Amino acid sequence: MSKYLLIVIFFTMSLGCYAAPPQDSPQIVRLGKKLFFDPRFSQPVGQSCASCHNPDSGFATPAGNMLNGIARGADGKSFTSRNAPSIAYNVLSPKPYFDKEPDTVVGGLFVDQREPDAEAQAGKPLLNPLEMANPDKAAVVKKLTAAGYEQELRSTFGEQATRDVESRFSAMTKAIAAYERSVEVNAFSSKYDAYLLKKAKLTPQELRGLKLFNSEKAGNCAACHPSALDHGKLPLFTDFTNDNLGVPRNTKNPFYAMPTPHNPAGSGYIDRGLADSELAQKILIKAQRTPEDYVGKFKVPTLRNVAVTAPYMHNGVFTNLKDVMRFYNTACTKGNPDRWPAAEVEKGRNCDEMGNLKLTESQMEDIIAFMKTLTDGYKPTLQTTSTQKRSSSTR
Ligand code: HEC
Ligand code: HEC
Repeated sequence: MSKYLLIVIFFTMSLGCYAAPPQDSPQIVRLGKKLFFDPRFSQPVGQSCASCHNPDSGFATPAGNMLNGIARGADGKSFTSRNAPSIAYNVLSPKPYFDKEPDTVVGGLFVDQREPDAEAQAGKPLLNPLEMANPDKAAVVKKLTAAGYEQELRSTFGEQATRDVESRFSAMTKAIAAYERSVEVNAFSSKYDAYLLKKAKLTPQELRGLKLFNSEKAGNCAACHPSALDHGKLPLFTDFTNDNLGVPRNTKNPFYAMPTPHNPAGSGYIDRGLADSELAQKILIKAQRTPEDYVGKFKVPTLRNVAVTAPYMHNGVFTNLKDVMRFYNTACTKGNPDRWPAAEVEKGRNCDEMGNLKLTESQMEDIIAFMKTLTDGYKPTLQTTSTQKRSSSTR
């Protein structure tokens, strides 16, 4: 009996602390937020992390800063090869490791899992010539000092933070990473969260969509985008593995026109995903796997906020969720009824778990309706709230 009680107490407690990120101090998070939104760290100035990861676009890129699905760099004319994903929830990825059960690399950051964690990742866009384009760490730190962050670095991280270029740069990326992991970025405040916590009801269509999303015999989406409470933790809608869905090339990708040394392949550029990720290669080789077998695979992204983070996939080839659904539904169907263009990488493409789902138009609409419940900032419109408001305003 007492054992049973303990289990109940434990379960109730763990419900309270769902996918809680590690605790960074509020002071570090505050500094990280300032740095994340500060447009003075790019070359030329004017671009911040938020230019490509904006809260109004689910921490992905606003339409105004993209061309054909790809974000624009600080110089206004450079383009990276890939679509910028949302940082929210994706940033809660574990450090990368090899897992035998899916037989692949789990975790890490970037869509090819090439950085171990948010701290290491945050330094990259600052120095990427196609993004914030600083020539080196010293150039970033010069801007940091000129922008008046010295005092705050010291009060947040101690005297040693302002010892040299390396210590300042490292403090900066630590603070940005802390903000990215914070509750402000990962709010778990969608209608679906409220539903899981029994604070909201889904509509009949959303419920049908959820069922189709989960069912192995229908959408089978939850196989890679887990949707259920896991030991009381709210789901992240990614298992942080990777796959090759056979996504077509984005033939309008402006990166194709980027000159050498950025893209010597021109319009023949093929994104080889995990096979070209040094960190993934290292992990795979250590596990006695052949990296080339992982060509064309990309990390499974979260589906939280997916309704506001268009376009979709690593190359931004799909501009709306209906096209994504159609693709999952028929990409591998005999005779190619929807005339899908060839996969960017055909080798190893997954036609076992997707591609011939036999969903009807209205079932696809149901799944989309369900995905729309994953947008943060849901406000339950309970009768009591409005009554309370009315009575307090008459007082
Ligand atoms: C010019 C647009 C641009 C800017 C500016 C930019 N990013 Fe990104 N970001 C991208 C792109 C594109 C990717 C995907 C690249 C890849 O996976 O290879 C990405 C990926 C990421 C990821 C990995 C997400 C995942 O799912 O693994 C994180 C985290 C991130 N960026 C954080 C930042 C931070 C922090 C800054 C500011 C220091 C920043 N970004 C500035 C375009 C940008
Ligand atoms: C076998 C694993 C797997 C299954 C099953 C799966 N997905 Fe995915 N999903 C992925 C991967 C991997 C990507 C990224 C592929 C890429 O970028 O090339 C992705 C990307 C997406 C995206 C684009 C997200 C973005 O931000 O770009 C959406 C939307 C999506 N999936 C929805 C679904 C739905 C709906 C289902 C069920 C019908 C489903 N997925 C089933 C692995 C899977």
